[in-house]
Amino acid sequence: MKIAVVGAGYVGLVTGVCLADFGHEVVCIDKDEGRIAALRRGEVPIFEPGLVELVKSNVEGGRLSFASALGPAVAAADVVFIAVGTPSRRGDGHADLTHVHAAAREIAGAVSGFTVVATKSTAPVGTGDEVARIIGTVNPGADVAVVSNPEFLREGAAIEDFKRPDRIVIGTDDDRARQVMTEVYRPLYLNQAPLLFTDRRTAELTKYAANAFLAMKITFINEIADLCEATGANVQEVARGIGLDNRIGAKFLHAGPGYGGSCFPKDTTALVKIGQDFGSPMRLVETTIAINDQRKRAMARKVIAACGGDVRGRTIGVLGLTFKPNTDDMREAPSLDIIRGLQDRGARIVAFDPQGMTAASALLEDVRFAENAYDVAVGADAVVLITEWNEFRSLDLARLKTLMAAPLFVDLRNVYRPHEMRRQGFNYVSIGRSG
Ligand code: UGA
Repeated sequence: MKIAVVGAGYVGLVTGVCLADFGHEVVCIDKDEGRIAALRRGEVPIFEPGLVELVKSNVEGGRLSFASALGPAVAAADVVFIAVGTPSRRGDGHADLTHVHAAAREIAGAVSGFTVVATKSTAPVGTGDEVARIIGTVNPGADVAVVSNPEFLREGAAIEDFKRPDRIVIGTDDDRARQVMTEVYRPLYLNQAPLLFTDRRTAELTKYAANAFLAMKITFINEIADLCEATGANVQEVARGIGLDNRIGAKFLHAGPGYGGSCFPKDTTALVKIGQDFGSPMRLVETTIAINDQRKRAMARKVIAACGGDVRGRTIGVLGLTFKPNTDDMREAPSLDIIRGLQDRGARIVAFDPQGMTAASALLEDVRFAENAYDVAVGADAVVLITEWNEFRSLDLARLKTLMAAPLFVDLRNVYRPHEMRRQGFNYVSIGRSG
């Protein structure tokens, strides 16, 4: 199959590279010429484990190329994926569809022969209808089927998620498009990943429902963690106890400082807006958003309480800044609210993150960025673990402790065991666990 992917950002690149790896002939297109030039040199602009190697092998194999002009690749394509950004629109929280609509207009002018146009970008219910309308208006003769094909990739595990998905959702009423999309995903089909064919609006809503449900699940266990702290119960054991029930499932029950990232905050907000637009309120999701927002600041208060109620003039060492490990993404990261909350109360912050410090330095003021985890601990009155990078799971705790001014360790990801930390001489505070 010949495939064009419009938008060489996170979703577009991972999609393009993995489809090339399946043996398709893929061109990734982006208006940003600098980005395309870098990709042609083998430089990948995002941090994602395994991506650089996969780009290299598929470029060398002649299956993957990059272009800044959309025309030739779209004209030759059997399938054009739209994978441009849909950020939250300033002011109202709706998804901003400017880039999707612009891509549709350009694609309309370039298609030739029957072409499937598949939206990967997360976009509200009805976006596919609008893309079809735009294409029909710009090029009334175009023989195009517009399909919704949402992605469910996690940052940091995107290639694995693409190649071994739980399911693939394809929204279309067009039989030719079904055949083409079955062909695109045939290698996965052989791996028995279910291809769910449905209508376009259902596919669009499925994506939002999935993310909102996961955000709710995390928020639920976070509130249970608070209740565990109040009652003396243990949230990890509660999570295990409920997670073994297949109807609930064990995943996404790790209590923490609140969810962040480029997807859950944006998509939950957009789903609430969609609900309002259609007069069908999403009250559970509205509450989830409010609880999660409050939680991030509450984590700063938790650290302050652990410090005895006052952090003025104290040095707090922070381990981990990104919204989760294995990414350099700082969007909506809980660390931002926690650090600002501590700074507002007069704390000095020293922080280290394996990948996130460049992005963090543009978002945070008055933070000293350290060389490594131990550098963070030097003279610190407390060390706070915010993101569970692997390298923070096996710290030399004795060494860390000797460097600190006071042995207070606040573990917002429950990486360590309370009794072991106490045995090591730490004053240890974690989430939803008293003992
Ligand atoms: C999420 C979804 O998991 C993907 O399926 C989806 O495709 C993606 O959004 C998207 O819409 O593009 P992602 O944002 O990359 O993926 O990251 P997750 O691994 O889902 O983590 C999101 C946040 O939840 C992180 O801040 C993480 O620390 C937090 N989290 C996750 C918890 O606090 N507890 C958990 O048990 C799981």
